[in-house]
This record gives sequence, C-alpha cells and structure tokens, in this order.
Amino acid sequence: MTTAAQKVVLIPGCSSGIGLRIAVMLARDHMERYHVIATMRDVKRKNKLLEAAGDVYGKTLSLLTLDVCSDESVKHCMTRIKDQHIDILINNAGIGLVGPIESISLDDMKKVFETNFFGVIRMIKEVMPDMKKRRAGHIIVISSAMGLQGVVFNDVYAASKFATEGFCESLAVQLLKFNVIVSMIEPGPVHTEFEMKMITDVSQTEFPGADPDTVHYFKNVYLPSSVDIFEALGQTPDDIAKCTKKVMEAACPGFHNLTNPLYTPIVAMKFADETGDLSVHTFYHMLFNMTGIMRVTLNIIKCLTCGCLRRRTTISPH
Ligand SMILES: NC(=O)c1ccc[n+]([C@@H]2O[C@H](COP(=O)([O-])OP(=O)(O)OC[C@H]3O[C@@H](n4cnc5c(N)ncnc54)[C@H](OP(=O)(O)O)[C@@H]3O)[C@@H](O)[C@H]2O)c1
Repeated sequence: MTTAAQKVVLIPGCSSGIGLRIAVMLARDHMERYHVIATMRDVKRKNKLLEAAGDVYGKTLSLLTLDVCSDESVKHCMTRIKDQHIDILINNAGIGLVGPIESISLDDMKKVFETNFFGVIRMIKEVMPDMKKRRAGHIIVISSAMGLQGVVFNDVYAASKFATEGFCESLAVQLLKFNVIVSMIEPGPVHTEFEMKMITDVSQTEFPGADPDTVHYFKNVYLPSSVDIFEALGQTPDDIAKCTKKVMEAACPGFHNLTNPLYTPIVAMKFADETGDLSVHTFYHMLFNMTGIMRVTLNIIKCLTCGCLRRRTTISPH
C-alpha cells in the first residue's frame, strides 16, 4: 500500500546484485519515503530478495514480473501499478559479454543490446509520457564506467553502455524542459553474480573462430588482470546502492556519477588528449608491456585500501 507522501520507485532486475540491494535499501528507508516496486523476469528467483527485505515486503516493497526485453511483459507490469504512476525509474537490468569478438555470434551481441540498450529505452518510453505530463520524475540508469571508457575484450558490452549513455545524454536535455531528471550511475567493477557468470562462461568456452594468439591474450593476459582488478578495485552492490540513493536524494542530481573514485583518473585521461591516443596507448602498455608492474600496483592498492577506501564510496564532482 503506497501513501501519498511516498515516492514510487520501479526497478527492473532485482533478483540479484545491485538491483536487489537498491530495492532493499530504499524499501528499508527509516523514514519510509519510498514504495519500491521490485521486478524480475522470473519471480521464482524471488527468495534472495525477500530474505534481504524481511518484514518490509508487502509494506514498502512489492514484487512484480518484468522482462525488459518484452513489450508485453513491460505493459502487463505497468497495468498492475496504481495509476501507472512512477516517480523514479531505476534501469538496472543488464547482462555482460566478454571475449574475442571472432568467437561471439551476432545473435549473442544483439541480446546484449536488446537488454542493456533497448531494454532501457523500452522502460523509459513506458514511464516518460506520464512524467512529462506531471512535470516531475527521475530516470536513473545503472550504466558503467565502461559506458565512458572502452575496455579490451568487453567490446560489445562497452558499446551497449556507450549507446545508452549517448541516448540518455540526448534525452536529458529535452526532459529537463519537463522537469524530468536523467542520471547515469557509472560503477567500475562490482562483486555480483555478473562477475561470476562471466568467469564461469569463459572457462567453459572454446572460442571457435579466434586465432591462438588472441585466445592466449584473452585467457592468459586479460583474464588474470581482470580478476586482479576486481579484487583490488571492486565495490560491493551496497556501495552502488548508497551512491544511487545519494543521487536520488540530491537537490540537483548530476548526469554522470562515477561510483568509484579510483576510476576518475581513467576517465579524465580520455578527455585530457583529444586524439584518444593517450587512452589507447596507456591501456595497451598496461595490458601487454607492464603486466608485472600492474599486478604489483593492484596488490599494493589492495593492501593500502584493505576495504576502507572501497567503503568510502563517493560521487564524482560534476
Ligand atoms: N557487476 C559489475 O561489475 C557491474 C559494473 C558496472 C555496471 N554494472 C551494471 O549493473 C547492472 C546490474 O548488474 P549486477 O552487477 O547487479 O549483475 P547481476 O547480479 O547479474 O544482476 C543483473 C540483473 O539483471 C536481470 N536481468 C537480466 N536480463 C533481464 C531482462 N531481460 N529483464 C529483466 N531483468 C533482467 C537479472 O535477472 P535474472 O536473474 O533473471 O538473470 C539480474 O537480476 C547491470 O546493468 C550491469 O551492466 C555491473
């Protein structure tokens, strides 16, 4: 049951990870300012969410089925929401894809865009007309630092997040005229099922079509570095939930919101050299020529931060 003072928050992708933690954090807000409509494409996966939500389920948190890839599912979900009124949409549902592009089918690439890009558009198209009419609303997208800076072997995933950033950056201008705010949350690595799914998937793959050198660079150079990066720089889903809540509650929410201060220099480097060479060559040297130094540096970061920097999550200045 929603009270008039509560903001209605719709979140796709709450079966695990970041979406689950955002849903629980908002539903457990001590001032009960939010009514969270947590959704997932298969409600059989609801147990983790309900366990984490505890006694707020049925009070400030309700659960509905929603698949961001299906018009029918999205429309059906909206009919279950009172007056189809949404104050805040948090586009969280997403899938990853990593590996040499020679061994990834175009169908698998399209699935990533169908979820990460068209899924976001489908949700925005559904809630936007009412927000415009009411001259109020906040559209938040859980994007990625990879929506601002491409990362080797994450070509298609990064492209889907870049596309989403471009779409939202364009739309934000029009929506501002209607007092509807658009904000991107841009995490670096986060410890969720996302990372586990990636590691499980790649360990079972043969990479047909990719030449042996590329497979070697992917398996023996990129993957170990990626694991080190997750270990040294990874945030928790709660860190991302806290950042998202902070952006929601800001007097003037910004458009870009990097959640991990350790990623700010990486993004800044891109804008420091308009040719783009600085980023491309730095990443090239880090991966292929300085693997040893990088491992040592990441281990030092891991020791120095020992969790405390990761807990001190900040939002980048705008
Ligand atoms: N983890 C990271 O390192 C990281 C970093 C930057 C950004 N992100 C972004 O954060 C968001 C959440 O990811 P996560 O890390 O929390 O991973 P996760 O634990 O795998 O959660 C992804 C969620 O999206 C849902 N989902 C996938 N396809 C869907 C669809 N068609 N319709 C509705 N829901 C769907 C999944 O549901 P099922 O249970 O049904 O699969 C799951 O609940 C994603 O947009 C991701 O790109 C993650």
